[in-house]
Amino acid sequence: MGLHPLFSLGGRLQLCASMVRPGTALADIGTDHAYLPIWLAKQGKVARAIAADIKLGPLMKAEANIKRYRVKDIVSARLSNGLDAVFSTEADDIVIAGMGGEMIIQIISAAPWLKNEQKHLILQPMTSAEPLRVFLAEQNFAVLQEQAVVEDDRAYSVLLVRYSPEKVTVDELYPHIGKLTANTEDNRAYIRRRITNLEKKAGGLALSGKDSEAAELNGLIARMKAMLEKR
Ligand SMILES: C[S@@+](CC[C@H](N)C(=O)[O-])C[C@H]1O[C@@H](n2cnc3c(N)ncnc32)[C@H](O)[C@@H]1O
Repeated sequence: MGLHPLFSLGGRLQLCASMVRPGTALADIGTDHAYLPIWLAKQGKVARAIAADIKLGPLMKAEANIKRYRVKDIVSARLSNGLDAVFSTEADDIVIAGMGGEMIIQIISAAPWLKNEQKHLILQPMTSAEPLRVFLAEQNFAVLQEQAVVEDDRAYSVLLVRYSPEKVTVDELYPHIGKLTANTEDNRAYIRRRITNLEKKAGGLALSGKDSEAAELNGLIARMKAMLEKR
């Protein structure tokens, strides 16, 4: 059998990996090729990991890679719709990356055991970040950390969240930029893209005579622009 040097993760998965607690039991939901758990296992950063996917094709890819990189003592592939086939005792850090925000909402809703202060969720929505953030706040998941990354000319945000027994309160900017601050170039790129997006939306609202809604959005846009200028 040939030697397979370890691959490097792209910026998006690298950022997800950086939020995983060292020595944790990991579940990577929607793992596809299983690069994230394999990379973490190879670096000695996880005690064990479940690489879960809903589809057989990706799961077979995951299994082949687990074998190729010789991490089968640490990483196991599992067919699972969301967390349906994962027991609460099996995972403390749960990554759900590379899928739509609506699907992430469904997966979290179907696993009530995630409402536990010991569990960390690392979430990276490809779309619909806004409804995901609103859902998380409504369900009392607090964002401990949020960071953006630009990869292949797209800006992604990664959220580290944990259930909070106390009421989670958020401000008006939170649905749009979560807990991002303007402290990195990638965060600023994400915020700039959100501004462009909201400007289009505000323009549409103004055109259809919804002046007060447009004014409200313009207020948020001004606050986001001020964040970019202030740093
Ligand atoms: C685009 S890949 C993302 C792979 C990797 N997580 C990443 O971020 O690069 C999305 C994967 O999620 C899987 N998936 C979609 N819905 C799922 C669900 N409800 N439960 C588990 N896996 C799911 C798909 O089969 C696919 O392999």
